[in-house]
This record gives sequence, structure tokens and C-alpha cells, in this order.
Amino acid sequence: MHSEFLVLEKSPALCGISDLNGAKNAVLVIMASLILTSGKSKLCNVPFSHDVFQMIALLESLGAGVVIHEESQSLTIDTTTIIKHAVNAEIMKKMRASILVMGPLLARFGKAAIALPGGCLIGDRPVDMHLNAFARMGAEISLDGSCVYAQAVHLKAQKFILAYPSVGATENIMMAATLIQGKTTIVNAALEPEVFDLAAILKKMGAHIDLLPAGVIEIVGVPELKPVTHTIIMDRLEAGTLLLATAVTGGEIALPQGPGHSLEVFLEKLCEMGHSVDTGIDGIGIYFKATKSPKAVSFKTMPYPGFPTDLQAPMMVAQCLADGTSTVTETVFENRMLHVRELQKMGAHIELEGMIAKIKGVDRLYGAHLIAPDIRASAALVIAGIAAHGSSTLSGIHHLLRGYQNLCGTLQKLGARIIYKSEAI
Ligand code: UD1
Repeated sequence: MHSEFLVLEKSPALCGISDLNGAKNAVLVIMASLILTSGKSKLCNVPFSHDVFQMIALLESLGAGVVIHEESQSLTIDTTTIIKHAVNAEIMKKMRASILVMGPLLARFGKAAIALPGGCLIGDRPVDMHLNAFARMGAEISLDGSCVYAQAVHLKAQKFILAYPSVGATENIMMAATLIQGKTTIVNAALEPEVFDLAAILKKMGAHIDLLPAGVIEIVGVPELKPVTHTIIMDRLEAGTLLLATAVTGGEIALPQGPGHSLEVFLEKLCEMGHSVDTGIDGIGIYFKATKSPKAVSFKTMPYPGFPTDLQAPMMVAQCLADGTSTVTETVFENRMLHVRELQKMGAHIELEGMIAKIKGVDRLYGAHLIAPDIRASAALVIAGIAAHGSSTLSGIHHLLRGYQNLCGTLQKLGARIIYKSEAI
């Protein structure tokens, strides 16, 4: 047995130009969407994080052929050979995004069986909206222990009015609807850039999808979809993470591929803190210089285009070290404050009441033994560790590896002092 951890040392101001990887949250659903086709598709700009390898294992377990081209960051996925409709419970438990194969399996084969999904421990994270939608489409849903079975001879087009713009439910409904005769409408749909990237690939496959104003998506089903080649969008969350690592070390960074157009509220908050932020033509390219005296700002997470919940934890680190007080309110997930305890160990002044954190900025954080509780909190703790005085250790780094391809390597190139250790226990 080995224990893997990071040693994080106080680092100089991060400085440099950095490339980005493709968006994890886009590639996972896009890989699932290929189940809707029969044939060989190619995905480019694929981030090889552990969740992507899990999704590869999932598709292979269904019978798909997957060829990994790590050097060109691409994948070839052949869905002709898919013969199974049941997802292995081990895979399902490791990654909540596995639920995203349910819509495509149901639409193409009329049946799907999945264990209830796992993933980060950020709350109950129910999948009721997904299952209710499939039931309204006419699927028979049954539960047996922790397994859900869905079966339908003919799925029916419907109008769905989502009580909340769930990203995953919007994606699952949209994928299933592409092969259902008639018009499916999703009102109060999620509008995250990753949902748009999914719509883009589905349209290339031949789907009829209209993204209308005010969060309405209309899908008119077609008899079949064809395989495609598609390039995944850049990861806005990786971009935000690199900007915050630069901010807390007082540095300067250029992200020429940075999707500034997808991070507007977040970038506005960085400006409010006093940092200098410029974006390139059409919002592509982010150029950032940290202020030496950052001001604390309050923010509240919201569905897109609001402040992204996935940047809440890393942004909190910046507030811990800013001048003044701030309030951070998490509205998307009911248990996404697990990093607070770890930041408190480092000397952060945070009072937590439910999902509202009141923060009083301090001059310094101090190194501590940290445990990563989920993907985005792990990135936040890396940021805190390279800003803190002294040395920190971070365990639970499987979370970090699930969400990012080589985040530590990217930070090291910019000057961060991070050492990976693996010790026998
Ligand atoms: C996706 C992202 C995740 C991001 C989140 C919100 C992926 C792989 N993950 O997660 O990184 O933080 O969007 O931007 O793309 N809910 C229900 N019932 C449901 C579905 C959701 O109550 O059936 C609730 C959830 O518990 C949560 C909220 O809705 O409180 C938002 O969840 P959702 O938008 O569905 O997030 P995910 O698709 O799981």
C-alpha cells in the first residue's frame, strides 16, 4: 500500500504563459453522447484526467472500442460494437457523471440499467430530475437495491419545465430527445458552456436542436445520428483555477486560449478585488496581473452565467487573504463547504453557517496537513498551500487527479513549489 500526497511550499509570484486543457465537464457528457451513434468518432482536445479514463472504462464495458492517443490529446471511439446496456456498479460508484449514459442508452437501445452514481461527496446530489424525465418520456423505471432500470419501447417527446436548471438533467433529456420523434422542449434549461458544447456535437451528428432565449431548448428528433469529429472546448474552470493561483501569489499570467467569454462574472469579481484583467478579441485570451493589495469581495454561486460553483472553493482562498470581510454563499450544492475546515487549519478566519461563509481576511495562511474532500476543494487547497507560509501536505489527491490533467505540472511551470510524494504505509 502506498500513500500519495503533495508537499506544497510557499511559492514565488506565479508568472508566465499557459496552455489550457479541454473541459472535463464537456468531454464526459460528449463521450456519453457518442452512444447515440453507431460508428467511429474522434474527439480532440481531450483532457486525460482520471474521470475521463473512468468514462473510457465505462464505454468499453458496454462494448465500445476506444483508442487513446495521449500525445495528440485525442480519442477514437467506436460505438458500433456496443452490446450491453448495464453499467458496472464499480464504475458508476466512482463517478457521478456516469448517469449521463442513461439517456443515450435508453434512446438508442430502449433500455438502460445503472447503479446509483457516486463521485464527489458534495451533498446528496439526487438524480430524481433525470429519472422523472425518463418516466415522463414513457420509460418504465424500476429500482432494485441501488440499481435503476429504465425500459421503453417508444419514448415520447414532451415539454419539460425544470424546477432548477440542472446541468446533468438538461444534458440527459437533450441527448435522449435527439432520437425521439416529435418536438421536446426544455424550459429553464441549464445554459452552461458545456451544455452548448454538447448541443454543438449533437448538431454535427445530425440532431435538430434550437437554443432559444430565456433558457429554452427545443429538440426535434431524427431517426439516427452519425459519428463525427469534434474538438472539446477549453476548460473555463482550469482557467479560473490558474488565475486564482496567480492572484494569491501576486503574479502575472497570460492564458491565450482562456475562454474569457465564459467567465464574465468571475472575472468581474477579480477586477473588483483590484486585480487587472484583460480579455482578447471575442473574449478569447485572458491576461491577468495581480494587485499587491487585494480587496475582499462577496459572491454567491449561481447557475451559468452566474458565479460558477466549481470556482467557489478556489475563490474563497483568495478572500481569506484579501483585505476586509466577505460573504461567500453556496446556492447550487448543499454540502460544498468541506474546504472550510481545511482552510481554518491554515489560520483562515471563516465562520460557517449552513452554506454561508463569513470571511475576515488575514495577512497570511500557514502550512498544515490538509485533506482534499472533493475535486474543486482539492484545487483550492493546492492554491492555499502555495500561498501559505511554511510547508503543507495535501492527501486525498485522487480528487485532484479526477478533475484535472496535470494541474500541478502546469503550476510548477509557472513557478509553484509542489512536490508529489508516494510513501509505503
Ligand atoms: C455538473 C458538473 C459539476 C458542476 C454542476 C453545476 C459535470 C460532470 N459536473 O454537475 O462540476 O458543479 O454541474 O454547475 O458536468 N439536482 C437534483 N436532482 C437532480 C439533479 C440535480 O436535485 O436530478 C440538484 C443537485 O443536487 C444540485 C443541483 O441540482 O444541488 C445542481 O446539480 P446539476 O446542475 O445537475 O449538477 P451536475 O450535472 O451533477
